[in-house]
Amino acid sequence: MRLTAEQQAMAAGSAGEAAAQAIAMLLAVGKAVEAERLIPVVSAHIVIDAVTLGEPGLRQVESLARAGGRFVVPTTINAVACDRRADPATYSGMARRQHEVLQAGIAMGGLATCSCNPIGQGVLPSFGQSVAWSESGTAPYVNGVLGARSNREGATSLASALTGLTPDYGMHRPESRRGDGLIDIAASVSGVDGFGLLGLHVARRWPGRIPVLRGLPPPQLDEWIAFASSFAIAGAAPMFHAIGLTPEAPSLAAAFPDGAPSPERVTDEDLRAERGRLESETGETIDMVVLGCPHASLQQLAEAARRFDGRRVKAGIDCVLHTSQGAYALAQAAGHVAALTQAGARLTVGEMCYGCDFRDSRFPDGARVATNSGKLLFVAPGSQGARLRLADAAACIEAAVSGRLARYNR
Ligand code: F3S
Repeated sequence: MRLTAEQQAMAAGSAGEAAAQAIAMLLAVGKAVEAERLIPVVSAHIVIDAVTLGEPGLRQVESLARAGGRFVVPTTINAVACDRRADPATYSGMARRQHEVLQAGIAMGGLATCSCNPIGQGVLPSFGQSVAWSESGTAPYVNGVLGARSNREGATSLASALTGLTPDYGMHRPESRRGDGLIDIAASVSGVDGFGLLGLHVARRWPGRIPVLRGLPPPQLDEWIAFASSFAIAGAAPMFHAIGLTPEAPSLAAAFPDGAPSPERVTDEDLRAERGRLESETGETIDMVVLGCPHASLQQLAEAARRFDGRRVKAGIDCVLHTSQGAYALAQAAGHVAALTQAGARLTVGEMCYGCDFRDSRFPDGARVATNSGKLLFVAPGSQGARLRLADAAACIEAAVSGRLARYNR
């Protein structure tokens, strides 16, 4: 790889031991993918949770902090394995260990956003800018919706945070971002649940391809995030286009400068079949309602509070909303947290969730769960033996109140 003089000096230790280790990691990756150079990133999103990293990974984060590592670009931190509202003095076991490593991340300059929904945290790149974001669901949003550039990063995002650099390959290269297949959306798609289901279906049916969607109804922000996170969890592609909606596909001709291929189609029947394939529960009785995977936004918390409308969660039902500290603080100021708590709902803040196999948040054996999250529908049955059904937020709240989830009629 060709390095600038400054990068060579960094590799030789001019910016300290941690930066030298980080650039060595980036060079190793760059060589493996045959990148020719390192390019700057404007931000990083890092995963330093105690579940994903395991003890060796946690020790590495601490060792980089001890070696004087400092993040040189704005760096947000993913959801962690401890309740961010709790007094750290009360932590034990994994939560205590997580707290220690989080402190190392903060000492290096990490922003303790503690959310798997970094899009909602406000540190966003502009069109064409490169970033190094981990958490699988973020890359399709960064690339597709924003027109910024990120590969699906892992530990390399930490190295990018310490150096402000990433190897120039994959999504950072214009030639890698072209659409691969035209898909007409002939289904009616709406809501976080509907866009999540569509993301799962497209990723499964056209694996690894960068799909170009035509006819997609304009999604709201939470719907985009639901689509991107589901699309990412069910497949390996880091990007999609939507004609007339995403910045690199303003028209069919722009998406396919050499001529559009014959379209394939997604119909309502396809999505009904996808739902049937993924749902692991068919009965109406439920034990739990889980909203907020990825972490619920202020708007989602407000909607849930409004839908309770003074009613309470039925005795014996566990109704959980996962959210970030930022959304929680805003919802608290607006009175939504009080409304949800008075309704008997439970909020987790900054924490990993039931989809993460996070020990403290495992589903009870055989729990019958209603959720509006396509991502959770995809990951939870396989990893935890829970029995899930997908429904929109309104139906989920009704289920929390009544204990029953009517058959989905879309
Ligand atoms: Fe977040 Fe857990 Fe879902 S950490 S994206 S709420 S699997």
